[in-house]
Amino acid sequence: MCGIVGYIGDTVAAPVIFESLKKLEYRGYDSYGFATLHNNDFFVKKDKGKISDLEFENIPETLLGFMGVGHSRWATHGIPSEENSHPHLDCKGNFLVVHNGIIENYQELKNELKQRGHSFRSDTDTEIIPHLIENFAELGFEEAVKKAVGKLKGRYAIVALNRDSDKMIGVRRGSPLIVGVKNGVKDSDRREFFLASDIPAFLDHTNNVMYLDDEEMVVIDKNKRSIKFHNLERKEDVEKRLINIGWDAGQAEKNGFEHFMLKEIMEQKDTIMRALNQDVKSIESMADKINNAFGTFFTGCGTAGNVCLAGEYIFSKVAGKHINFIVSSEFPNYHHFLTDKTLLIAISQSGETADVLEAIEAAKKKRVKIMSLVNVMGSSLDRKSDYSFLIKAGPEKAVASTKAATSQLALITLLAYACAGKLNEGRRLLIETASKVNDMLNPRYEKHIRRLAEKIYKKDNMYIIGRSLNYPMALESAIKIQEVSYIHAQGFAGGELKHGPLALIDKGTPCIALIAEDEVKDDVISNAMEIKSRGGYIIGVAPENNEVFDYWIRVPDVGDASPIVNIIPVQILAYHLAVLRGCNPDYPKNLAKSVTVK
Ligand code: AGP
Repeated sequence: MCGIVGYIGDTVAAPVIFESLKKLEYRGYDSYGFATLHNNDFFVKKDKGKISDLEFENIPETLLGFMGVGHSRWATHGIPSEENSHPHLDCKGNFLVVHNGIIENYQELKNELKQRGHSFRSDTDTEIIPHLIENFAELGFEEAVKKAVGKLKGRYAIVALNRDSDKMIGVRRGSPLIVGVKNGVKDSDRREFFLASDIPAFLDHTNNVMYLDDEEMVVIDKNKRSIKFHNLERKEDVEKRLINIGWDAGQAEKNGFEHFMLKEIMEQKDTIMRALNQDVKSIESMADKINNAFGTFFTGCGTAGNVCLAGEYIFSKVAGKHINFIVSSEFPNYHHFLTDKTLLIAISQSGETADVLEAIEAAKKKRVKIMSLVNVMGSSLDRKSDYSFLIKAGPEKAVASTKAATSQLALITLLAYACAGKLNEGRRLLIETASKVNDMLNPRYEKHIRRLAEKIYKKDNMYIIGRSLNYPMALESAIKIQEVSYIHAQGFAGGELKHGPLALIDKGTPCIALIAEDEVKDDVISNAMEIKSRGGYIIGVAPENNEVFDYWIRVPDVGDASPIVNIIPVQILAYHLAVLRGCNPDYPKNLAKSVTVK
């Protein structure tokens, strides 16, 4: 996954692109590049490394012009290096492309292009695109791009420039690409345009957007300040609405916190409440659809997948309904069960995860109805769903998902109560939970968890156990700890310990027991005893202290909403483990925020 940016306007482009690109660094951070176009010349700067390590003063003044593109890379084809950084150019340096996604048939196309005499400088799949455009150059820039993308297989978004044109062209097929428009409709000859993989890239300038759909191309003309959308499949121009997305730039900044991850953990004081702020009629009508569907499935990946699994337990317990969770990358293997009466509930923060989108596409082929819980308005999942709920957590920038997860949990719990005909009871419980989260997230609480992190941060292994609603949170705790601190962490259902994992416990091995005041509490405590008697160091996340705990982190007793309050202290612990181990929790190695490749 990578971040791409394009700009056309009245401001010198390089600094605008530089700032926008920094906002997309969470999408990829092993190399960067930018290019401007001025007086029919390209000016390019690219290198390996993080854009945020590049000082503004080091951006060459030679990057002239009022239009340009930028790219932040997460390597898929070719190691991080200057040659493999984007943008990529054709043989004669007439066409330039930045790209997010994967071109599946690039090797075949590269061989063909080589036979035609094209020479390549990088190992990337991207580089074939400017060469393909070059191949059709005589048709003019727009037609050449159309022909070139017609040859590509895979999921991608690209932005292309031509040295001899004042147009910027973007194409979307499976990876996000959004247009930001500054100065609106009335003042059309002063309009400024942004093209980006995600909205925070241009939130400093505008929150008015136009969404490209898959198979669409956008052509922005710098001279005319015009914008045109074209559907490549139907071969016709399409009209787009300008939408105000309601986010502001402050929400996407650190606001005094050292890292986005901690800021986003603390935002849970408000975000859980915001997730509950849904139209009652829509919740009730969705509950009806769930109740009347013949076979309902959850799908999602990573943290959102763990929320789905928690949803499976919550629906079973609260509404007596069985909803199967299938991790999105495996979902296409379950197509045999799908009928036109099936309902698929897809959960995703970004709404752009490739595996989730593939899952819903496979389901749609069987005429399954899609309902989604998504954070990013206008994302692919939001727009491809038959029914969509926004969780309203605001931009989540840290790679580790925190506030989005608890908002998803809150909304899933609310839906389960609605299915059980107890919407008001569910709402009361969740409002109380949100207010208790507000009380939890104070500096003393954080310090208490930091002290624990100081005791265990040098350990190599950690285990987490839970049962029932808190088993999925044990899995989620493991993801949080692994991805930001790089400590090997594994989550188990408490009852599974004796079937193998107990062999891993040594003297002092930290084990977290996630406990709620529920019918499985005593079982989890006796699992913790089993670990302790093999030398394990027990961290109890529980409403009440217990003699088995070596370290107790108190959480409020909130009944069926316990996954929400139990995961929050582990998020804080994971954050401090990362910081103490010298890892940047916002940018874990080898990971990207939303995984738009298969
Ligand atoms: C969470 O901390 C992870 N970074 C990751 O597992 C993430 O939840 C997963 O990639 C799914 O993303 P999505 O919610 O945007 O679909």
